[in-house]
Amino acid sequence: MEASRPIGVFDSGIGGLTVASAIHRQLPEERIIYFGDTAHLPYGEKSHDAIRYFSLRISRFLLERDCKAIVVACNSASTAAYDVLLEFFQDKAIFVNVVDPLVQAALEVPHQQIGLIATHATVQSGVYEKLFSRADPSASLKSLATPLLVPMIEEGFVHNDISRSVLETYLSDPRLKDIDVLLLACTHYPLIRPEIEGHYGGTVRVLDATEYTARALRDALATRNQLSPKKTDADHFFVSDYSENFARTTRLFYTESIFLERCNIWSDH
Ligand code: DGL
Repeated sequence: MEASRPIGVFDSGIGGLTVASAIHRQLPEERIIYFGDTAHLPYGEKSHDAIRYFSLRISRFLLERDCKAIVVACNSASTAAYDVLLEFFQDKAIFVNVVDPLVQAALEVPHQQIGLIATHATVQSGVYEKLFSRADPSASLKSLATPLLVPMIEEGFVHNDISRSVLETYLSDPRLKDIDVLLLACTHYPLIRPEIEGHYGGTVRVLDATEYTARALRDALATRNQLSPKKTDADHFFVSDYSENFARTTRLFYTESIFLERCNIWSDH
């Protein structure tokens, strides 16, 4: 395997750029090929079967571009499709999801009552509950679907009256009562992490997966001697549907200005 081959990163849309951004920061010599399935978002409202089908096709696209590793940046896809991706492709690339690094991070901080907010698809999967009960049967996890947060963040409603009121309503749900750790299990939520931390005033440890996922990728590459010594080509950012709106939204999620390339992998069958 050639270590200079790219890293594939995929998401239902633009939000996965929070993960790509952490990878870019921690692994500046790695070349990224990003795929945002903007034609099908939001995955959080789709069935697990649909998310599996999309994830398999996107992974095939990234493998055709010679990716040595594929990062499933989307929480909904990580919970619905990761096992199927391994079944089909684990001999072809290294696969990293956003769930395992976040669970690991939560287990390493003092915890008793853990809360989790995410999309409907992630919450309904029950994957986090399964992983926690396996790793630490004494830990209790309470999950809450918070579907309004994705459109709210994409519209730039952060640190204003609307975001405060939406967050207040969700975070005061009885299911999240008495938590000491809150997991932000969605690509978009790192953007409102300071606001969520502000809500709790330091009484709850708030964790998101971005930096932990980049670290898990680095460790997986290092173990296999696959860290790229030097970046040989530019990053590429593909989307299955392009609109000015998507281009505008990228600015919220990626610090550098990037160029979205339309590549409709769904029209070829
Ligand atoms: N990327 C999705 C996730 O992390 C959020 C947006 C969507 O529902 O497509 O679950």
